[in-house]
Amino acid sequence: MSATETVSSSKTVSSSKTVSSSESAQERGRRALLHEPPGGDPNKLTLVRALGSLVWDDKGNEYIDCTAQAWSNNLGAGDPRVVEAAIAQLREITHVRPTFHTTALLELADLLTAIAPNGLDRVGFTLHGSMAVETAFKLAMRNRPGSQHIITLQDAYHGRSLTTMAASWPHPNNVFGPLQPRFTRVPHPDLYRPRRGLTPEEDSSLCLELLQDTIDKGIDGGVAAIIYEPVQGNGGHNEFPASWHQGLRRLCDDNGILLIVDEVQTGFGRTGRMWGCEYYGIEPDMVVFGKGVGGGFPLAGVLARAEHAQFISGDDQLTFGHFPISIAAGLAAVRAIIDDRLAERAAEHGVYATKRLLAMQDRFELIGDVRCPGLMVSIELVKDRKTKEAAPRESARIFELAQARGVILGESRYAGLGNLIKVKPPLDITDEQLSRALDVLEEVIGLVQAESDAGLL
Ligand SMILES: Cc1ncc(COP(=O)(O)O)c(C=O)c1O
Repeated sequence: MSATETVSSSKTVSSSKTVSSSESAQERGRRALLHEPPGGDPNKLTLVRALGSLVWDDKGNEYIDCTAQAWSNNLGAGDPRVVEAAIAQLREITHVRPTFHTTALLELADLLTAIAPNGLDRVGFTLHGSMAVETAFKLAMRNRPGSQHIITLQDAYHGRSLTTMAASWPHPNNVFGPLQPRFTRVPHPDLYRPRRGLTPEEDSSLCLELLQDTIDKGIDGGVAAIIYEPVQGNGGHNEFPASWHQGLRRLCDDNGILLIVDEVQTGFGRTGRMWGCEYYGIEPDMVVFGKGVGGGFPLAGVLARAEHAQFISGDDQLTFGHFPISIAAGLAAVRAIIDDRLAERAAEHGVYATKRLLAMQDRFELIGDVRCPGLMVSIELVKDRKTKEAAPRESARIFELAQARGVILGESRYAGLGNLIKVKPPLDITDEQLSRALDVLEEVIGLVQAESDAGLL
């Protein structure tokens, strides 16, 4: 019997449960999953294979994956350098507690601090971006005892642990509030919907003034750190003017506040530079990284300055925090990202994709805005370009039609206004695959524009 087959006819699997012979283990599994809607999600693909920018489902269908699986496969899936490194490591040792090193861990620490922005020369590892953000918060609090408040931006996304949810945008129906620490969310400039028609520069100045007011009058006690994403990812692909980035750095210096830059999405080449903070000329005190660093394996961490390396034993240790397979895969992935010049590839692909999307914007009223940088490309869909009313149904329809044609696009399902379509494939996607994905996107936007014009949506 294969693992995918029925367990057995009416086999008793526990003292209280009998399974039916008419359903496969997979069908039962769909309903058993905790995070699925009641009855399961019939539209969710079951993926069985991935290579580069392609994935295949269990029915043999091939797709171009413009999501890089939550923008994590900066290096395409199944890269032999990563796979071999992971296999070699797992043959040697699969688990060490964080009170031991592995050789790959030491080499990855050396490599990451060598390529780190702004001379950040200390690094710590964990397995998830959310936990890495928490590590950065703890380190900031260690360095600013008595100033334990943290400021975040409206529309930020820093993870889904209890603490990082509180540091992110207000979650609809958030029942976790009573257990979450208090963060203060401040406004950020909005390039697409500027307040009261302000210019980006005026909006930047206003937001910085409001931030200073909040620090002076809105918060009891000191502020340990401000955290933000160089480009807000899940919150809507929001970019900020250079003057705001620079002003924020100055404000942190003037107020003795640490600046944490969350590069979980923007790091490792996604913006066309190795780090998003380099793209925008930001000098962080700490950088949080994740996603692309692991080459498809769970890995994340924090880069910091030596002067801030203040953890004491017991502050920040997780049983699997130094998982050797992830670390070995990460070492191979980061080497490959450097050797293959993937940041430059992202910049080139990004220029091409943005040009194509701008041409589509000329044709289709639905496209309100085209956003980059690098291969962090997206379009915002609106019902009306003047009012900028979001068009989430149109966005969902584009996603659905493209998937039926073999292209998996990124969407903003639980964030922002729910009306972004994202094109964020692996950075080493081939020119032909990228062009094909954009052809499909163009075709389906045309179909959805026609449906929308006919009042069918
Ligand atoms: C900017 C940012 N920070 C943190 C996280 C959390 O990472 P993880 O899902 O690995 O916990 C994410 C995940 O999407 C992210 O985009």
